[in-house]
Amino acid sequence: MYALLSAIVFCLVYYGLILLLYYQYESHKQKSRVFPFTSKFVQHEFFRKLSCSENCNDRSLRALFVTAHPDDECMFFAPAIIQLRKLGFKVYLLCLSTGNYYSEGETRKKELQKSCSVLGIPSDCLTVINHSGLQDDPLAEWETELVSSLILTHVKNNSIQLVLTFDAGGVSRHANHIALFKSLSFLSATRQLPEGCSAVVLETVNIFRKYLSVLDTPVSWLMTPDLLFILTRKEYEEAKTAMHCHRSQMLWFRYMYILFSRYMLTNTYRCLSEEQKIRKPE
Ligand SMILES: *[C@@H]1O[C@H](CO)[C@@H](O)[C@H](O)[C@H]1NC(C)=O
Ligand SMILES: *[C@@H]1O[C@H](CO)[C@@H](O)[C@H](O)[C@H]1NC(C)=O
Ligand SMILES: [Zn+2]
Repeated sequence: MYALLSAIVFCLVYYGLILLLYYQYESHKQKSRVFPFTSKFVQHEFFRKLSCSENCNDRSLRALFVTAHPDDECMFFAPAIIQLRKLGFKVYLLCLSTGNYYSEGETRKKELQKSCSVLGIPSDCLTVINHSGLQDDPLAEWETELVSSLILTHVKNNSIQLVLTFDAGGVSRHANHIALFKSLSFLSATRQLPEGCSAVVLETVNIFRKYLSVLDTPVSWLMTPDLLFILTRKEYEEAKTAMHCHRSQMLWFRYMYILFSRYMLTNTYRCLSEEQKIRKPE
């Protein structure tokens, strides 16, 4: 009985403490720009450039998100999209399928356009690929060669400086997500990415942390990721609005996801190659 009671008290106190910290962070963030890097990443040249420049609207900074399906951008990447945009990045999205698993490709493509306009991705920065070799299917093998050449063309054509995609866990272990990781790490390992272009991958957390929402924030911070994005409540509302654009996908478990998933609030990224981290800016 006592054990149970003290466990409950402990949880309440922990919850209260986290909320208090979160509100502190939020009010601090409203006063000054909070940069998404933790110490390891500070050397990185464009984040240095960013922190030096007073001009928030330096449109020479370009970030490319590579996703597999319409709705990946707001289910998983919303914190980074919203905050990079606010830091002055021009944000591009390359979605490699139309999400046609249930033959809703046309609808989902339109929903993606709406979601992007909510997230602040200009329509000319959105590219949706409809390729017979890249269909939305957990059993489909997406060829690394094909995917990486699509990514590379996009990076070069748009002078991208930061590419973001899934890590080896693909958040939900969907094979299409993992194919993107394989392709980007192939490009990074074979040094095909242009000079000055970095690749980072979104960390997959275990199922327990995944549904902790704001309670996971201190854990994310303590694990010292290379990039850390935490949304304020106002920004979270924006991510939620983007989620609701995907109307064909809004089944009951999506509402649960919006409430409990830490990916709606927090994103942590790892740099793909070690040398990117320590490369000295001139
Ligand atoms: C994708 O391509 C197929 C075959 O070329 C076509 O039938 C389908 O309508 C396209 N889907 C979208 C969403 O453009
Ligand atoms: C390259 O980018 C320009 C605009 O930046 C676009 O009009 C063109 O279609 C792109 N080409 C390819 C091959 O993606
Ligand atoms: Zn997906």
